[in-house]
Amino acid sequence: MKREDLLALLSDMSLEEKIMQLVQVPGQTYEESAAVTGLADMEKAEKSKYLAGSVLGLHGADKIIAIQKDYMQKHPHHIPLLFMLDVIHGHDTVFPCPLAQGATFDPEISRKAAEVQAKEASADGVQVTFSPMADLVRDARWGRVVESTGEDPYLNGLMAAAMVKGYQGDSIADKDHVAACVKHFAAYGAAEAGRDYNNCELSEHTLRDQYLHGYRRPISEGARLVMTSFNPLNGIPSSGNKWLMRDILRKEMGFNGVLISDWGAIGEMVDWGFAEDLKDAAKLAMDAGVDIDMCADSYSDYLDSLIKEGNVKEELLDEAVLRVLELKNDLGLFEDPYHGASAERYKEVSFSPESRELALDAVRKSLVLLENRNNALPLNSKSIALIGPYVDEKNTQSSWAITCDADKNVTLRTAFEEAFKETDTKIKYSAGCTLLDNDSDLGFTTYHSDTFDEDNDRLLAEALEIANSADTVVLCLGESAFQSGESTSKTRITLPEVQLRLFNEICAKGKKLITLIFTGRPLELNEIADKSDAVLICWRPGTESGHGICDVVTGKVSPQGKLPMSFPWYVGQEPLYYNRFNTGRPKPVEGDTIFTTRYLDCPNEARYPFGYGLTYSDFEISEVVLDKEKLTKSNPDDKITATVKVSNVGDKCATQTVQLYIRDMVGSTVRPIKELKGFKKITLKPGESAEISFAITDDMLKFWTAANIYDSEPGKFSVFVGFDSATENSQEFELLD
Ligand code: NOJ
Repeated sequence: MKREDLLALLSDMSLEEKIMQLVQVPGQTYEESAAVTGLADMEKAEKSKYLAGSVLGLHGADKIIAIQKDYMQKHPHHIPLLFMLDVIHGHDTVFPCPLAQGATFDPEISRKAAEVQAKEASADGVQVTFSPMADLVRDARWGRVVESTGEDPYLNGLMAAAMVKGYQGDSIADKDHVAACVKHFAAYGAAEAGRDYNNCELSEHTLRDQYLHGYRRPISEGARLVMTSFNPLNGIPSSGNKWLMRDILRKEMGFNGVLISDWGAIGEMVDWGFAEDLKDAAKLAMDAGVDIDMCADSYSDYLDSLIKEGNVKEELLDEAVLRVLELKNDLGLFEDPYHGASAERYKEVSFSPESRELALDAVRKSLVLLENRNNALPLNSKSIALIGPYVDEKNTQSSWAITCDADKNVTLRTAFEEAFKETDTKIKYSAGCTLLDNDSDLGFTTYHSDTFDEDNDRLLAEALEIANSADTVVLCLGESAFQSGESTSKTRITLPEVQLRLFNEICAKGKKLITLIFTGRPLELNEIADKSDAVLICWRPGTESGHGICDVVTGKVSPQGKLPMSFPWYVGQEPLYYNRFNTGRPKPVEGDTIFTTRYLDCPNEARYPFGYGLTYSDFEISEVVLDKEKLTKSNPDDKITATVKVSNVGDKCATQTVQLYIRDMVGSTVRPIKELKGFKKITLKPGESAEISFAITDDMLKFWTAANIYDSEPGKFSVFVGFDSATENSQEFELLD
């Protein structure tokens, strides 16, 4: 439809029709006959059903086609309904969770995975996905870190932008693509004490300098929607934060797409004590420029009177409605209201061998090897005991893979059976214990077993028996899918007690011990890391879990993942992130540490820092060589080239991720001790070397200055190039005016 036709349509719509374009209803509206108690309720239910502009949570081509047909017939202007869903790391084929994708340091993988998700979801009737989540996360207690790509603003921005590219393609009208929604604007990841839905206090400087970066890139990439966050930011809930939404998001970041609230977030402004009632909340959200109310009933119930009383201008409503209509139009819904949804096409495109191959590649690249004493990995053993609750566990995805059938995920047992079928290696399998402690709170339910103790005693005895006859134990442990994700904050980030008991009993056998950890967040792993010969972080890997992990463990490919979040020694260090400040009393590496910044009982640094991850080979890196020592700010083409020589001095072919960090030595505001500014992957055979160069430009030196502008400041800088964020391999240069 042409723009003038859209405008004509808008001017022909009744006030009620316009308001309802801004209302998003839950899927049940179309799936269940609403329980109505009287005529008024019946009218309301019908109004929601046939006038609401969008719905969330539905999928299934035939179902969506039927709903759309019925809806459009009844809608006064036959405007199509918009179907939205959380397609986070898979629709049918499940890719590793976003945190694992961060560990790949490979935005191209995320782009391709998003492309597959879009194709599958779109054929299944979905037109908008609530992804990517670009929130910066620094606190492992917060369960939603599983949905982020980690603690670094630069990496987050790259990954989220790649996802947007994959979801949206060149045109969202294309039936293989969907519109993307960047969330949760803003700073949802800064929830105090890692407790979900909690308050966020950030200076404007920290907000701009650290937290907004992740959203900026995917928005510039053209993401069509943005979602507000639940949290207040410095006292103002996001869904009513005019400054954040109008000045920062729209004016500064140039976002002109649809702004949708998170579920019920407009209504929650009443609970926060920011809005008097739902009507007041509706007004605040409209003023802030929130276009769609997700399931709070605030716009549907109160916009009409707010407009009639003159408290919300109709122009404001028209602006918002036009944005929603434009999105529908750009998706091509006025021409094809099903956006190519078809049960046949869904069958054809979903869970394809190519998608599974990509998922496999993503799993292999996301696994992070934390320890590998005496080259315990790759496996080199003729008798293996594969033990642990994850041996047969199919749910290796996250709790957000809502449409994906965990039964299709390849287990470790299946993959190991396939891999060792025609070999003389003997493998035995045992669960060893339950996945959860008894009476574990999983949010929506509590795990309870009346026979918990007997079952675990029996499982342990079986496991110890097979461990006895093996020379290597591969222990498969981890959190359950429901211990990370929304509303899963924890104050103890350890494995369940029952798994630790199994671990210690197995350790006592003195066998070579390889520990695999499935997790959606950084964990405290001290005992496991100290006592295992090798530790591999597997995250929530999805469909190709078993195959991808087996390929790495058996040495078919070398691990190459790098931590996207710091793993602490103890939870008491959280929030923990590498790009911290030096403080006025940095702790010296050697000598007296009294009255310096430190803990009495724990190092300041992470146990495993951001960017860390071993391979099966050994790499060396030369000193950093700069082609010159001064960069001129006034010359936009000026650059310094930083070069290192990287050599594979081990005996396996492996891929290393070479990381570039910069420190601004003196700034008008205090600057982090290091910030990631670039990275390159290099695959080298044993004995091979390569030169890796990075161009350093003025742009990379910019930050939010004391003058509240994004700029660089002349002075000294350090440039670090290494294999993780703890590298001290550095040189200095100077930025001149
Ligand atoms: C609430 C979550 O915070 C958000 O991430 C999600 O997209 C919506 N619910 C819709 O399911």
